[in-house]
Amino acid sequence: MTKNQVLAILASEKTYVSGEKISQQLGISRAAVNAAVKALRKEGYGIASTTNKGYLLEYMPDILNEASIGLYLPAERMQSVKVVEKIDSTNKGLRAMAYEGAPDGQVLIADYQTGGRGRNGRSFASPSGVGVYFSILLRPDMEPKDAVTITAWTAVAIARAVKKICGITPGIKWVNDLVVNTRKICGILTEMSIESESRRIDSIIIGIGVNVNNRKEDFGPELSEIATSLSTETNTIVSRAALAAAMVEEMDHLRASWPAGRDEFLSAYREMNITTGRQISVVTLGVDKEPEKATALDINDDFSLLVEYTDGRRENLSSGEVSIKGIYGK
Ligand code: BTN
Repeated sequence: MTKNQVLAILASEKTYVSGEKISQQLGISRAAVNAAVKALRKEGYGIASTTNKGYLLEYMPDILNEASIGLYLPAERMQSVKVVEKIDSTNKGLRAMAYEGAPDGQVLIADYQTGGRGRNGRSFASPSGVGVYFSILLRPDMEPKDAVTITAWTAVAIARAVKKICGITPGIKWVNDLVVNTRKICGILTEMSIESESRRIDSIIIGIGVNVNNRKEDFGPELSEIATSLSTETNTIVSRAALAAAMVEEMDHLRASWPAGRDEFLSAYREMNITTGRQISVVTLGVDKEPEKATALDINDDFSLLVEYTDGRRENLSSGEVSIKGIYGK
């Protein structure tokens, strides 16, 4: 705990901070300050020390924990942000927390997942030290049919967080994959639970997985054509803690805007969308049917996708999956 407080002070200053000042500010001894600095160095923080001037934080390692994310968010917000090193799935873990009464806005983040879940029963590769695996709990008082667009809104929120931290705006592949240079950098899995008596929403868990500092070779043959990372696309190491904090902020903006701020999210979604105007294949989930070729024409006001099949039929898709020619190696 002391260690985290010392880190927060050093991170908030651009210049040397004296040991005396830190000890006074925290009400701890100079020896305790020294011990905290030693522990931080052991974790990989680069802290210079000079006899007369004190300590200077020169380098922060890419660590994802409550202390590192807490450098970017108010202490009050951090009270409902839990960070663990390892979990089977943050969506599953947050579901358990929701049953125990976790509040609207509760966040669960992991450094790695052993059973990361993707859409349609797929798995989501979640290796340690390179990604952000993030779930957030929402408890809106509404009927399930009124919440289906939350996933599309989330794509906008996460694209904005990426823009804030990395300077690049990902494209949104309908409905909610984030894409950079034709490859996927983020997937979103939304799971809803309904109260059986009232038929209203009990909770929504939105799970977001971002490939942050994976190297090209980390993806392996079956993913390398499909997936990329923010680090590969920007040629820098990206701070996962800063990104996770920006994701919390953007999801908080989403919660505050939901549902009245639809126009803002819809126009951002349309701007970031990379699906319309392209040749696509429409996959009907749960049905043994060949994907059907179509052209994606428009994003409707309810975030559904207007498509035109080769025989001229038109349809508004509000769920399901599309693959796009030229994206993910297709
Ligand atoms: C997809 O693209 O198929 C969705 C992937 C969603 C992955 C995230 S990682 C955090 C959260 N926990 C999970 O088990 N899955 C989601």
